[in-house]
Amino acid sequence: MTEAKRILVTAALPYANGPIHLGHLAGAYLPSDIYVRYQRLKGREIVFICGSDEHGVPITLTADKEKITPQAVVDRYHEMNKKAFEQFGMSFDSYSRTSLPLHHQTALEFFLDFHRRGILREKQEKQFFDPKANMFLPDRYVEGTCPICGNTEARGDQCERCGSYLNPTDLINPKSKISGEVPVLRETSHLYFPLGEFQSRLEAYMQERSARDGWKENVLKYCQSWFNDGLQDRAVTRDLDWGVKIPLSGYESKVLYVWFDAVLGYISSTKEWAQRNGNPDAWKKFWLDDGTKYLAFIGKDNVVFHCIVFPAMLMAWNDAHAAERYVLPENVPANEFLNFEGQKFSKSRGIGIDVQDFLARFPADPLRYYLASSLPEYRDSDFYWKDFQAKNNNELADILGNFVNRTLAFAGRTFSGATPGRGALSPRDAAMIEGMKAVPGAAGLCFEQYRFRDGLLEIMNLARSANKYFNDSEPWKTAKSDPTQCGTTINISLQIARTLAILMSPIIPASAERIWKMLNLDGSVTAQSWDKAAELGIPDGRHLGTVEILFTKIDDDVIDKAIKDTTNAPTVPQTPPKPVDVKPEITIDDFKKLDLRVAKIVQCENVPKSEKLLKLQVEVGNEKRQIVAGIAKHYKPEELVGKSVVVVYNLAPAKLMGQESKGMVLAASDDEGKLFVVTPSGELPSGSVVR
Ligand code: 2FM
Ligand code: ZN
Repeated sequence: MTEAKRILVTAALPYANGPIHLGHLAGAYLPSDIYVRYQRLKGREIVFICGSDEHGVPITLTADKEKITPQAVVDRYHEMNKKAFEQFGMSFDSYSRTSLPLHHQTALEFFLDFHRRGILREKQEKQFFDPKANMFLPDRYVEGTCPICGNTEARGDQCERCGSYLNPTDLINPKSKISGEVPVLRETSHLYFPLGEFQSRLEAYMQERSARDGWKENVLKYCQSWFNDGLQDRAVTRDLDWGVKIPLSGYESKVLYVWFDAVLGYISSTKEWAQRNGNPDAWKKFWLDDGTKYLAFIGKDNVVFHCIVFPAMLMAWNDAHAAERYVLPENVPANEFLNFEGQKFSKSRGIGIDVQDFLARFPADPLRYYLASSLPEYRDSDFYWKDFQAKNNNELADILGNFVNRTLAFAGRTFSGATPGRGALSPRDAAMIEGMKAVPGAAGLCFEQYRFRDGLLEIMNLARSANKYFNDSEPWKTAKSDPTQCGTTINISLQIARTLAILMSPIIPASAERIWKMLNLDGSVTAQSWDKAAELGIPDGRHLGTVEILFTKIDDDVIDKAIKDTTNAPTVPQTPPKPVDVKPEITIDDFKKLDLRVAKIVQCENVPKSEKLLKLQVEVGNEKRQIVAGIAKHYKPEELVGKSVVVVYNLAPAKLMGQESKGMVLAASDDEGKLFVVTPSGELPSGSVVR
């Protein structure tokens, strides 16, 4: 943890190509908003930046499909997402867009600087071109048969069935995913950023920052695997006409690669914020001052761009601009994924719910509370409607809402709606006040360390102990037997309600504000101080406001309907699920063509420059041979040595990433796509025929 002069927080710029769903909120947005709201209460100088990422191929495909312009697509989703974020209570200082001229200028400033300084390298290459769609095809838009496992739906970047890393030209019978046409190879040239040259500096950077600010294990592991594979040059231009156009001769029909410009969108969005506030240079103190602590909140799929690509770009800039050096992320607190009712969010299968649809059913705060309590901070987590209902009813309503409402109602009835004074404190009163004073520090420490679930737990435990305090103090009895003690109990309970309003405000801002109003306190809860949250801040005699029910319980039938509507959308045809990957029937003679044998793995190593491939030396009876298998993501080489596996012995030899491969190792994948090699049960000698 580091104390800094000021804090810059960015949240991943979502693509303006579809609505935001709950998974997005749990990934980057809710955690960043809690963090920023907390830091504002700490009195820190902070700016919170986001906006729409409005470039990239998928946006042009949506436009083609709907026969509208890409600009019309991004206009629609920018407005929609901006509104959804507002309704959800995101407190961005700037929600800009990458189609603005200000952004194009910013992105080109970097690109042209790199080009002028000879950092970018031009490479000529042959790339698939779709004559019907009249466009060069990005790798994942070429489909064909995997040369390794025969999957007919392999993508040009990877085969999802066997996990092999592919080039589009490896595919047998390549087809354009856009038009279905057979693509042709065409010569094109692109400019590459030499990421490999930054590897040792990036490793040192990550080590230094993670020692200082405690980077998450998952983020470090992910980056380490990139470093182990060795960073490669990355093309920063694309043949496309939607994006940041490149003003270089020969590059008229090209644009910047969407990720090159997207990360710079954080800078242009901060510039837009500064201009809007009438102080156009105000962005500089955040980006160009070493005293800034920069935090980039993202989901796990964006790690490489924020921990490797973006820092390398900023390093490249800083190397030549001593007077204008950008800050690099101090931390990149990436979350894992949120699943929905045990499945992945899938628009096409009607699984999941968009933020705006959710907020048409329920208010934002119960959703914020539920998501905050189950954020995928270390591993994937799930949204379940029944859990949402339970958290709303049993925690928000029964614990927090109940405490605030019973306290205020009691004060209204017994003390005519004014805050009673405190008498001498009983041991129970003193212990309650002591306990409360510890909470801002404990919860704050969790938030500083990006442990939002734990922070929320600390605060809710205060609400739990407050209910117990109220019950144990039995003010309904002391009202008659000892009115001074009753006044003390209610005074302390009101003070706790005030403390809870401040501490809960980063999580449930609208409800916290309502508590503040119900207590009839001055100003807004957002203007309070975190460090003073546990002071006894309500003066004796203070008149209280009107009591309202804070949280409404959700009935079973409402939740049942939500489950029905979102786990099987009516627009999806009701066909029974088909088993995956069923192939046409074969005869026993077809099967007999396969020569399957038991092989023993005697040696195993990674294939250089490949994330997916392992090179195995196997023994099949007396014969030794080499097989290359796409299982590096699932096994470490040492885990395989000594294992017996089943191989397709008579598969035609092939070359993968320059390595000879003779045969194929059989493997099966589980529901999450993890591959397991097929091993014979029992002690079978290698060479045994499988039939
Ligand atoms: O994954 C995404 O939604 C990207 N649009 C995130 C971009 S983050 C940053 F680079 F702008
Ligand atoms: Zn394959």
